[in-house]
Amino acid sequence: MTHRILFVCLGNICRSPAAEGVFRARAPHHATDSAGTMGWHAGNPPNGPMQKAAIRRGIDLGDLRARQFTAADFDRFDLIIGMDAQNIADIEDLRPPGNGTPVRLLTDFAPQTGADHVPDPYYTRDFDGALDLIEAAVDGLAAHLDT
Ligand code: 4NP
Repeated sequence: MTHRILFVCLGNICRSPAAEGVFRARAPHHATDSAGTMGWHAGNPPNGPMQKAAIRRGIDLGDLRARQFTAADFDRFDLIIGMDAQNIADIEDLRPPGNGTPVRLLTDFAPQTGADHVPDPYYTRDFDGALDLIEAAVDGLAAHLDT
């Protein structure tokens, strides 16, 4: 079964495009997109260091472009996945009345890591640490969707 999955972070240039890129490589039968709760980087490709860290793992993010999350996304996707609690709060602020689309934290799908959010490498500069967590959680998500 094909699911429509939207990954959301703050800027849509580090964490959510990385999650989108890993997910589409692992689970190409699903429909995937990413967005940022803020529109500062709309139209821009993913952050350079994140692209380089991803390409070392065989994940090419070069075709992705940032866009801002909107209320219409609640109707376009079956599952919306945020990277941290602030993302979830900002997403929920736009939920249309009566809409029931589930919104989850990415780390919910990697309970073995003990992480409760994906730390933002735009600030931490730990791109590989973010990718380790994203890969573990995307594997869990893909398994969850296909069972
Ligand atoms: P992201 O990281 O939410 O993982 O894309 C950020 C990217 C840019 C900014 C903040 C976070 N920024 O402030 O421009």
